Amino acid sequence: MNRKKIVVFTGAGVSADSGIATFRDSDGLWANYRIEEVCTPEALKHNRAKVVEFYNLRRKESLTKRPNAGHLAIASMEEWADVEVITQNVDNLHEQAGSSRVLHLHGELMKLRSERNPDLIYPIEGWEQRLDATAEDGAPLRPHIVFFGESVPMFDPACKVVAEADILIVVGTSLAVYPAASLVYYVRDRQVPIYLVDPGNPDTAMMRNPLTHIKERGAVGVPQLVEQLRNELAK
Ligand code: OAD
Repeated sequence: MNRKKIVVFTGAGVSADSGIATFRDSDGLWANYRIEEVCTPEALKHNRAKVVEFYNLRRKESLTKRPNAGHLAIASMEEWADVEVITQNVDNLHEQAGSSRVLHLHGELMKLRSERNPDLIYPIEGWEQRLDATAEDGAPLRPHIVFFGESVPMFDPACKVVAEADILIVVGTSLAVYPAASLVYYVRDRQVPIYLVDPGNPDTAMMRNPLTHIKERGAVGVPQLVEQLRNELAK
């Protein structure tokens, strides 16, 4: 089999079938919380308790969640393709499913970091970040999450990964948040096929590559697509 490089770019939708709420759907997190109050550097500065509580709740919830058939199908491609996952998600369901190369663009729920030194990153046991917890430099710990208004340090490495793709698969993202959404434009050339699995209508207006939109939820559409690609690439 011709071993292709397949890059999978995922958003909240890939974890929706595991029971984790998306952000912008009608029942999404941003319908119940104001971004400015829980996901900005200003919120962390002025209302730390609320920010920490928000991510404690997300963490507590995520501990009960398991990968779904979409995550598992993505991981299974490693048997016959060179696969890298770039996710906007802060859960670890791709890792739990067995994906070995996962780049987290927006941080990770199960890690905390120093408010002063972004390189001092620690795994957290359990769900609760205590408000008075500090890093070894003495600074308070904060969730290891990229807040709105902060730079996205993993963006450049992610662009390089996308540029290597022979095939790009996009799953469950509204493509509404930048710079993450612009990753789809970093494919090597106009020939690289893009497959989109999403029951909704992400913003694909500017995409010029061959685009196949599989309008299914992730747990259904991703296994279907993976089977299709496996058969096509085996020829
Ligand atoms: P959104 O909530 O913006 O988009 C979720 C996408 O998932 C939509 O396109 C839905 O149609 C789709 N979807 C819903 N149910 C699905 C299912 N069962 N299977 C597959 N797809 C489904 O989430 P993101 O695009 O991931 O950032 O949001 C991007 C960023 O905005 C997040 O990383 C987060 C958020 O604010 C930060 O918190 C920094």
